[in-house]
Order: sequence, then structure tokens, then C-alpha cells
Amino acid sequence: MKTTENQDITLIAIETSCDETSAAVCRNGKVLSNIISSQLEHEKYGGVIPELASRIHQQRIIPVVQAALEKANVSKSELNAVAFTQGPGLLGALLVGISFAKSYALGLNLPLIAVDHLKAHVLANFLNENPPEFPFLCLTVSGGHTQLVVVKSYWEMEIVGQTLDDAAGEAFDKGAKMLQLPYPGGPLVDKYAKTGNPNFQSFPISNIPNYDYSFSGIKTSLLYYLKKQTKENPNFIEENISDICASYQATIVKTLLDKMKKVANDFNIKHLAIAGGVSANSALRTQFQEMCNRHHWQAHIPAFEYCTDNAGMIAITAYYKMLKGDFVDLTANPFTRAE
Ligand code: KG4
Ligand code: ZN
Repeated sequence: MKTTENQDITLIAIETSCDETSAAVCRNGKVLSNIISSQLEHEKYGGVIPELASRIHQQRIIPVVQAALEKANVSKSELNAVAFTQGPGLLGALLVGISFAKSYALGLNLPLIAVDHLKAHVLANFLNENPPEFPFLCLTVSGGHTQLVVVKSYWEMEIVGQTLDDAAGEAFDKGAKMLQLPYPGGPLVDKYAKTGNPNFQSFPISNIPNYDYSFSGIKTSLLYYLKKQTKENPNFIEENISDICASYQATIVKTLLDKMKKVANDFNIKHLAIAGGVSANSALRTQFQEMCNRHHWQAHIPAFEYCTDNAGMIAITAYYKMLKGDFVDLTANPFTRAE
């Protein structure tokens, strides 16, 4: 099915790749609703429990979809397509969204659109009023990935650098765990860091060649630092939480932006973007903007609701796919990557 330009395109998108059950309704590239139900149940386990995530998605998917339609003031009969996250993500969690999308599309006799989660994080920047111009450089930083991507078109994305071990989000979450903060710790490190001194303690910046990253060194260095300090003063963490968070965060942000700057200079790219859960980090957002201002680069930062996992980003990606008639059939599964 190919659509003509003057026809309204209204679609619903489903995202269930990890621990957010989300549905969004989008019309002609504008998100009308973006309902996100975060699974706080994982907090007490200190990380996402895959089986629990699948079960909660199963319970929430129908109410979340209904809420998305209601908020958008769109009825099922107005929909032209159903989109879903095909991967990457937790297998059982993905299967809930994929199976729901397939039955919904089948019941309503609508075409299906499969979306790659990481490409969708990048394309979340197209929900901004002033979207990036191609080619642009995107730093995708989430709980599972850290990538420097040269985006040549909606569908041509070249990964020029990535982490060799932990993702930036993992570095935040694991560091937070060492600081006895609950999961997911990234937003809490951000919160404490706001009143802390980033020069309180220096942590090593990894020295990885090319455009790749490594975050295991800084994590280990925090571990040994805390071990040593708490031996001398058992209340060390409690007494210095803001300063430790600010110093740890500053190192992660510097690591991320130094490599990004290198790629932008080497590839002579003038439009730069950030994406993924860690792009919600206030220090990263501010320092990214400042770096771009200094170099006269155009900075693109998604709104907060489109940084962490959300179906709005799946919807905008699906909209562009629909424009080029890119649909899948009922055999679509999470074992293959969407284009
Ligand atoms: O993109 P996302 O929602 O899920 C994945 O696709 O992985 O990213 C989640 C990650 C978590 O590691 C979380 O701690 C981190 O994003 N995160 C943050 C902030 N908000 C979310 N990290 C640092 N500062 C934040 N404000
Ligand atoms: Zn994500």
C-alpha cells in the first residue's frame, strides 16, 4: 500500500522493548498522544527482570493503547496503520508488543510497520520544531547502547563509534547502585549532581582509539574509590553524595562529548543531535549545547518525553516508513532487525 501526499496518515505505535509500556498516536508526522507507563516494579530488584517486564506489558498494553487513542481523540476506525518496535530489546517484552500489534492490525484490517528501536531514538529528533539537516551526527546514549551515528538519510545510518563494554546508561545505573541509589539510578545521579562539585574527585577518562568508548574503567575506579573512602569513614557516601555524583557524571559527559567533537571535526558535520535515555541528563544537555555553540554547530536535543523509551519515536519513524510504503506481514518477528 502506497499513500498519496494529500491523504491524512493516522497511525498507532507500540513500544514494549524494555520496562516502559507505551503507545502513541500520530497524524501526519505530529504526535497527538504519547502514553508511557513505566514499570516501577523492577526498582526493588535493582534492575529489569525480563520475565516480570513481559508480564507487566501483557497487563498494561490494552489500557495504555486505549489511553493513547482517548488522549489523541482518535477512534480505531480512523487509523491507517499499526506500528511496533521489532527490536533490539528483551525478547519476551518485545513479543508482547509485536503480538498485540499483529492482532490489532489483523482485527482492524490495517497494514503493519516494524520499527528499529535505535533508529527510532535517533529519529525522535524529527519531533522537534526545527529538525536536523542531513547529514547529521547523533550520539545515541541509552541503557543498552552508546553509539556515534552519522545519519545520512532517514534510513542510512552509519555507526562510526560505539562502546566496547558498558553503555553510558549502564555506567550511570551501576555507579548509582554503588552509591546505594535505587534502579534506574541515572536520573538520581543527575538530581544529586545538580548541587554537587564536579571537581570534587577526578575519575579517569578512557583512552580508547578511534571513535569508540569504554566505560568499565570509570566504573571500577568509582568502586575502588568508594571502598577506600568508606573504610576510613563509613558515612562517606551519605555525606558526599552530591559531590560524588557530580564528579562521576562530569567524567561520563566529558568522555561522551570529547569523542563526539572528534567525529564532528573529522567528518566536517555541522548538525549534531543527542538521543536515548541518557540524553535526558541535564549536564549532557547543557554541555552538548555549549559545545555546539562554541563550534557554531546546530544542536538538536529531543524533548524529555522523547528521550527515554517512548512510542512517540516509534510513531514518527513509522510515519516516514509509511510514506515510502514500507510494511511487514504477520511473519515479522524480533529475530530480524527492521530496516
Ligand atoms: O533509552 P532508554 O529509556 O532505554 C534503553 O533503550 O536502554 O534509556 C534508559 C537509560 C537508563 O540507563 C537510565 O538510567 C538512563 O537512560 N537515564 C539517565 C537519565 N534519565 C534516564 N541517565 C542519566 N541522567 C538522566 N537524567
Ligand atoms: Zn531505548
